[in-house]
Amino acid sequence: MARKLFIAGNWKMNLSVETATALAAELAARVSADSSVDIALCPPFVYIAAVRRALDGSVIATGAQDVYHESQGAFTGQISPGMLLDIGCEYVIIGHSERRHTITPPEDDCIINRKLLAALGSGLKVILCVGETLDQRQQDQTESVLDKQLTDGLANLASPSAATLVIAYEPVWAIGTGQTATTAQAQEAHAFIRSRLAELLNPDVASAVRIQYGGSVKPDNALDLLSQPDVDGALVGGASLKAADFLAIIDAGRTITSSAQ
Ligand code: 13P
Repeated sequence: MARKLFIAGNWKMNLSVETATALAAELAARVSADSSVDIALCPPFVYIAAVRRALDGSVIATGAQDVYHESQGAFTGQISPGMLLDIGCEYVIIGHSERRHTITPPEDDCIINRKLLAALGSGLKVILCVGETLDQRQQDQTESVLDKQLTDGLANLASPSAATLVIAYEPVWAIGTGQTATTAQAQEAHAFIRSRLAELLNPDVASAVRIQYGGSVKPDNALDLLSQPDVDGALVGGASLKAADFLAIIDAGRTITSSAQ
C-alpha cells in the first residue's frame, strides 16, 4: 500500500519567538504548494500559535512536543489536547526518548498510553516515539524493547481510532549523536514495528500507519533512509532548525514520491 511520506521537525527546546517565526515564515515561503509529502513543525508550546500564524496558507501543519492526558482542571503547568486543537495544532509527539530517558522524572509506558488515548480521542494526530538505547541494542533487546513500548503504549486502543496514528522509530543512540542507523537497521526495526502493529491492531491499520525514522536525519542520508520500504518519513531534530537542511530533507521525500508514481 502506498503511504504518503511524512516529514516532521521537532524543534525541541530551541529558538525564540523571533527566530521561530522567522524560520516558519522562511519555510512557508520556500515549500511549494505541492502536497505529495506531509510536513509538520513541532515548536515549543509557547511558540506554536505564532508559528501557526506564520505558516497560514502553506501546506505545513503544526504539532506539539507533548500533551497532558486530562482535558481541563487543576493541573498546574499542563496543556490539554483541546488547548492544542484550539490553537490550530494537528499533531502531537508522545513518548519522545528525551521524555522517557533524559527529563526527570522519566515517563513510563503507562503515562504515555494515557496521553495517547486522550490525544487520539480528542482528534489530535499522535506521533508515538519508540526506540532502544545503545545498551539494549548491544544486548540484543531491540525487538523486546520495541514490543513492550508498542504493546503498553497502544493498550486499550481500538483499531478505528488508530487510523491517524504515526509511529516514530528513534533509536536513542542515534538522537543528536550524528550516528544514524544504517538503512538496514532502520528497515529491520520498521518492519518489526509494522508486524507488531498488525498483531496489536489489525493488518489493514498496520499497513496504513506511517512509521517515521528519527535520529540524526540529515540532507545527505535522507534519501537512502526514506527509500526503505517501511520507512514512511522522518522525525527530524537538529536539521529541522536550519531551513536549508529541512528543505533538502523534504525534497528527498518528494523525489522518492515522484519516482514511485
Ligand atoms: P536529531 O535529528 O537531532 O538526532 O533528533 C532526532 C529527534 O529526537 C527527533 O525527535
